[in-house]
Amino acid sequence: MQSNFIFREATINDIEQLKQLGLVSYGQYAPFLTEENLEKLKRNIGNNESWKNILAVAKSFVCVLDSDSNRNEIIGMAFLIPSGNEWDIFKAEWSYIRMVGVSPMHQGKGIAKTLTQKCIDYAKATDEKIIALHTSEMMHAARHIYESLGFTILQEIEPRLGVKYWIYTLSIAK
Ligand SMILES: CC(C)(COP(=O)(O)OP(=O)(O)OC[C@H]1O[C@@H](n2cnc3c(N)ncnc32)[C@H](O)[C@@H]1OP(=O)(O)O)[C@@H](O)C(=O)NCCC(=O)NCCS
Repeated sequence: MQSNFIFREATINDIEQLKQLGLVSYGQYAPFLTEENLEKLKRNIGNNESWKNILAVAKSFVCVLDSDSNRNEIIGMAFLIPSGNEWDIFKAEWSYIRMVGVSPMHQGKGIAKTLTQKCIDYAKATDEKIIALHTSEMMHAARHIYESLGFTILQEIEPRLGVKYWIYTLSIAK
């Protein structure tokens, strides 16, 4: 069976697929979370308004599986929020990456690294100075990817979902 990965932007019509991808990818952390925190994670990822808000401001990158038997299934995602969108832990002058996720069926094929690199390339092309993101002690593969692309820990933040989290940043100022 021939299959290709195609990278494109997400649209509002993709929200249902993005939610499902979020639930299966981040759902992998269920063993590390209390029942209450797992429910909270699912509620956050399943929230239509949050996805609409992300898509309204983000440069989005999704990876679509294009095979003989499967057309247009989104199997990877990453979102670069431009500076000027202060949020919770992120400063207004930073751009930041959110919601990197890859379907468990397709992990380990370099998809997340490619999506993250696309966010970095876009941030550089649009003259951002800093890219930030937050990640946690349970997200080993994600931390490995970010560190391999040059991100370093800026600071530890308040625990989320009962686990340790850090802000990572990458300076891309020219
Ligand atoms: C994190 C995630 C997006 C990675 O997706 P992916 O497409 O499998 O990632 P890639 O194939 O591009 O790269 C995986 C890298 O992590 C490494 N890796 C995998 N498991 C690892 C582990 N337990 N510890 C350290 N590194 C690990 C791989 O070796 C590879 O690195 P390499 O290219 O240097 O060999 C995916 O696992 C996922 O969706 N996880 C759940 C959601 C999540 O954690 N998102 C990030 C939030 S900050």
